[in-house]
Amino acid sequence: MNFSYYNPTQIFFGRDCLFAHPEVFRECGKKALIVTGRHSARKNGSLDAVCAVLKEQNQSWCIFDRTVTNPTIPSVREGLALLKEEKADFVIGIGGGSPMDTAKAIAFLANQDIPDEKLFDGTCYQDKTLPLLMVPTTSGTGSEVTEYAVLMNDAAKSKSSISTPYLYPKAAFLDPAFTLGVGTATTRWTAIDALSHSVEGILSKQGDPMITAIALSGIQAFSRCRKALALGTFSYEDRESLMYCSLLGGLVLAHTSTTAVHAMGYSLTYYKGIPHGRANGICLGGYLRLTETVYPETVKSILDALGMKDSLEFQACLDQLLGEKELISEEEIQTYSEEVSGRRNIPNSLLPPAKEQIAQIYREGFGL
Ligand SMILES: [Fe+2]
Repeated sequence: MNFSYYNPTQIFFGRDCLFAHPEVFRECGKKALIVTGRHSARKNGSLDAVCAVLKEQNQSWCIFDRTVTNPTIPSVREGLALLKEEKADFVIGIGGGSPMDTAKAIAFLANQDIPDEKLFDGTCYQDKTLPLLMVPTTSGTGSEVTEYAVLMNDAAKSKSSISTPYLYPKAAFLDPAFTLGVGTATTRWTAIDALSHSVEGILSKQGDPMITAIALSGIQAFSRCRKALALGTFSYEDRESLMYCSLLGGLVLAHTSTTAVHAMGYSLTYYKGIPHGRANGICLGGYLRLTETVYPETVKSILDALGMKDSLEFQACLDQLLGEKELISEEEIQTYSEEVSGRRNIPNSLLPPAKEQIAQIYREGFGL
C-alpha cells in the first residue's frame, strides 16, 4: 500500500455547529464579505445564524447576494469589487455550490491580479487567499472541503475549475437543518452529484485504498436515502445522511478530481442548462457500465455498497430519480463528444472513453 492524503479544512458537522465554534470566526478578521444567493440563505436560517455569530464576536459584515447559478467570471469580479470597496478581510460562502465557488474565487483573487485568460491555467497562482469559511445549504457539491472553484468558461465552452491548494477553506460548518427546506428536484440532483463524486473517485486513476474507504462510506450514505429520494419526502435523518454523503464525496473529489462523467456533464450544463448533478446522473450509469467491462470487481464494490445486484439496477435507480429526459440531437452528441474527448478529466478516468464511447454514453443516458 502506498498513498498520501491531504485536506486542511477544519470540519464541523451537526445541528447548530455554527454556534459552538465562534472562535473560528473571530480568528478570521474584522469584517466579513458574506457571499450568498438572493433568497435561500435568508429562508433557511443560515444567514441569520452567521450574522448572529459575527455580531457576538463584534465583527462586522457586508453581503454580496448577487451570485448566479453556474457562476461566471463577471459575477466573481462584481463580488471582488464589493469586497475591496467595503475593505472586508475574510469571506464566508453560504449556499450551494454556486455561492461557495464564487466566495472561493473572490477570496483567492482579493490579493492578486489574475487576468481572465489565465484564471484556469495555474501558471501565476499565489498563496494570498483571504481566510474562507463555508456554510453549505445543499448536499451535493462538497465544495466546502475542496481545492476547486468551478466557473463558466466561455473560452472553453464548458465549466472550468480554478484548481489550487490555496482554495481550501479554513473551516466548513455543515448543519443539516439548513437543508430541510430544499425542494425535491434540487435534493435529487445534488444527491446524485455527491454520489457521482464518490463513484468517480473509485473509478479514477487517482483512487487508493483510503480514498476508496471514504467513497464507499459516502455511497452507503446515499443508499440509506434511496427511498426518501424516490418519494421526495425527507426526515432530519435523511438530510443528515445526504449532507454526510456530500461531505465524503467532497473529500474524495478533492483528492481524485473527477472523470469522464463530470467532463460530459459540463457540456450538458453549458449548452443545455441542465443542472450539474442531473447532468452527471445522465452520464453516470453509462460510464459505470463501460468501466465494468474491464474492471468488474471495482464496479461490484460500488454496487455492493449500494445494495444493488448489478449495473442495470443502478441505471434503473438513476432513471427513476431523473424522470423524463431532455431531448438531444445526434448533432449535439457529436459536438459535445468532440469537445469532451479533449478535457483533462478524460485521462483521469480509470477507463478513459474514446470519442465514440463518449457519444454512446450520451445516447444511452438520454435513452436513445
Ligand atoms: Fe460535481
